Amino acid sequence: MSQATSAELHIDPTQFPGVDVYTVAGNPISHSRSPAIHKRFAEQSNQKMHYGRLQPALDQFKTAAQAFFAAGGKGMNVTVPFKLDAQALADVLTPRAQLAGAVNTLRIEDGKIFGDNTDGAGLVRDLLAQGIQIKGSRILLLGAGGASRGVLGPLLEQSPKELMIANRSNAKVDELVHLFGGLAGSLDVALQAVSLSDLEDVGKTASPFDLIINATAAGLSDASPISDAAASNIFTPKSFAYDMVYGKITAFMQQALHRGARVSDGLGMLVEQAADAFLIWRGATLADAIDPRAVLAELRTS
Ligand code: ATR
Repeated sequence: MSQATSAELHIDPTQFPGVDVYTVAGNPISHSRSPAIHKRFAEQSNQKMHYGRLQPALDQFKTAAQAFFAAGGKGMNVTVPFKLDAQALADVLTPRAQLAGAVNTLRIEDGKIFGDNTDGAGLVRDLLAQGIQIKGSRILLLGAGGASRGVLGPLLEQSPKELMIANRSNAKVDELVHLFGGLAGSLDVALQAVSLSDLEDVGKTASPFDLIINATAAGLSDASPISDAAASNIFTPKSFAYDMVYGKITAFMQQALHRGARVSDGLGMLVEQAADAFLIWRGATLADAIDPRAVLAELRTS
């Protein structure tokens, strides 16, 4: 791929007079598929808008985001590593952004910056669209970082029977169980924490998981968070393995495939979270005008 120019990585809303300008902000950002996704939503719903890319230096998110909004930018998607900075920048947070502890969608209204998080809703809609029954299911969520925290609330709200979070280090997973214990209890979901190193034994003794979600950063480095021995006990031909990473068959997905499980990458989650951001910005009345599953199918073949 040819290298992105500086202008392509630093959208300037003043260059698009008369057009509402949005962007995705992250570092790195040149490979983001968000601009292509939003371009298709805008075409489907006949919206006059432009969606670009913004790559602030790692310590410059706040300055770059403020400059974007001061120059007339209307909204921003935020990705790695700026979701916490985006939460700090927002003047007002939605309850789900507060619960997620991170913000992936910003919009400006009357000079105030609003922060929301559509990641969890995006994951849930993608799972449901793939025919996964979440209600009453047994879920294993791998990882206890920002990605896990972002999706925990919406997953619990679907009323699984059990949700077990497995992480390498114990402190983070205990914190998540503490944070979400009340919500889980109110929905009658058995929420538990386990160490990744104990998964082999868990897989031996517990009833099988229906849905195993990899929300660790391990997929980015071609490693699986679980050992092959644990994988043998965790995956069955009836399980569904979902990796939030997209664009490749990860080591985690390979382990699942070897044991006959169904697998999915996270491209559908990316498209679905984008759809929610689009509707936040352009209006919920456009929900019937956009077709995220068609956009996903196009991305898969392009
Ligand atoms: P993100 O916002 O993407 O979730 P994060 O907050 O840094 O990023 O969290 C990364 C998660 O991936 C953590 O759960 C981390 O485990 P630790 O809490 O023990 O650090 C997990 N992780 C990263 N690399 C991993 C690996 N190779 N194997 C297992 N877990 C890994």
